Amino acid sequence: MTDLDRKQDRAPIPRDWTYAPAPESRDIVRIAERYGHYIGGEWLEPSATYRTLAPRDEEVLAEVGEGTAEDVDAAVEAARAAFANGWSSLPGSERAKYLFRIARILQERSREFAVLESLNGGKPIKESRDVDLPLAAAHFFYYAGWADKLEYAFPNRRPKPIGVAGQIIPWNFPLLMLAWKIAPALAAGNTVVLKPAETTPLTALLFCDVLRQAELPAGVVNIVTGDGRTGAAIVDHPGVDKIAFTGSTEVGKAIQRRLAGTGKKLTLELGGKAANIVFDDSALDQAVEGIVNGIYFNQGHVCCAGSRLFAQESIYEPLVEKLKSRLETLRVGDPLDKNTDVGAINSRMQLEKIEELVQAGRDEGAEIYQPPCRLPEKGYWFAPTVFTNVAQSYRIAQEEIFGPVLSVLTFRTPEEAVEKANNTPYGLSAGVWTEKGSRILWMAQRMRAGVVWANTFNRFDPTSPFGGYKESGFGREGGLHGLEPYCSFEDSETFGG
Ligand code: NAI
Ligand code: MG
Repeated sequence: MTDLDRKQDRAPIPRDWTYAPAPESRDIVRIAERYGHYIGGEWLEPSATYRTLAPRDEEVLAEVGEGTAEDVDAAVEAARAAFANGWSSLPGSERAKYLFRIARILQERSREFAVLESLNGGKPIKESRDVDLPLAAAHFFYYAGWADKLEYAFPNRRPKPIGVAGQIIPWNFPLLMLAWKIAPALAAGNTVVLKPAETTPLTALLFCDVLRQAELPAGVVNIVTGDGRTGAAIVDHPGVDKIAFTGSTEVGKAIQRRLAGTGKKLTLELGGKAANIVFDDSALDQAVEGIVNGIYFNQGHVCCAGSRLFAQESIYEPLVEKLKSRLETLRVGDPLDKNTDVGAINSRMQLEKIEELVQAGRDEGAEIYQPPCRLPEKGYWFAPTVFTNVAQSYRIAQEEIFGPVLSVLTFRTPEEAVEKANNTPYGLSAGVWTEKGSRILWMAQRMRAGVVWANTFNRFDPTSPFGGYKESGFGREGGLHGLEPYCSFEDSETFGG
């Protein structure tokens, strides 16, 4: 060691100017050792439990109930009773008060929820703090505003609540998906049985404390935890009038088959394989930010992720060059560190799925690029990945990877871009990058996708409907469109529509 080295070891200033860790404190949130099911405003002791983990290091966070058919039955009964005993006939202005309260409490407790979301799910705290929590509160505020205006939302259609909504949500945006589901259901006068995903139950369980604070009448919202078997018990329960599901296309299809002929209403929000299309007249640096946000946001655990990049041939090389050097600046690591851009993969199962598809990409002949980065030893991690030299037939260009993995393809003309972008069984979202307004409109008309973003990506707003075409599902969430599936209408009964 030289003298200079020794001096620098003692010096208070860092040797290089990489970021110092900026961990958010986890002390703000209290996690119980064990949780039951939240039914009829009470905690019901579960007959069996499982452990929920922190994906960043596999630390056991809590024991959580594994919901049985009896638990689901009790939850549905509580929801039916709450529906009949006042909630459905409460004036909309009164229901709105509860929703406004929930929204405000979420805002007040947002730091606590953000920490828990990142701890249990693995997403960077910067995202749970700046995206998940503000949007979850915004959804409650937005639908609170509609609760006493349903007659104006659907003029001359006499909207009425449906009854009990069974809601099954995934692990990529646990609290936000809960908000997307519960807010419109309650605004329209329904009651709810909701099941969070097995790997991320904790924010839904903390949300029960928000319901208590808001003094929501018992049984209006019931939370049962567990895996797919618990979900299936909700789907099959005869006392449930509507199912709202977000998750894999495989399970969505199975649910649709099971519900055929039962008269239960259904909305499905399933997978995606979105095209993000960059034309040669676009602002390339801005497009690179949009590409990065499109696929590395939330580790790519996003149904509308821009997982297929289509670069116009004339700008392919500079675009990929810029993209690669931008990837080197992404910080992968502790989800609770405020500097982290890419957090932990949600579960071992999801990590294995990503690894398998990435291996398929290599085997099929695509060229892989990963920036140099050191991944933590414990926990579930995957480096941001770009595949070039990808053919449309490769699995990485066809299947939803649901991880931080981008496949780059090329096109020459707008017609070719549309054809290639639509060449997928999915149709949830798409992105278009160009300076020409007319081209944006031309593209938006031809893309078979529920949402088309122009010169931006992954933008959400409670007023804007979100949902898919084809195997991405049907029905919309957000906006008036998201309220409609929670209402029954006299006209639909008369005309059978
Ligand atoms: P999944 O579809 O199995 O799980 C989603 C939810 O459905 C969870 O709450 C789960 O407990 C529940 N569920 C599972 N089987 C069920 C059944 N038979 N009946 C009722 N509910 C059931 O998704 P999983 O296994 O977590 O992920 C597999 C793949 O699905 C991912 O790799 C990803 O590609 C895709 N996915 C898409 C999501 C989206 O937002 N569109 C969200 C989660 C996963
Ligand atoms: Mg599954």
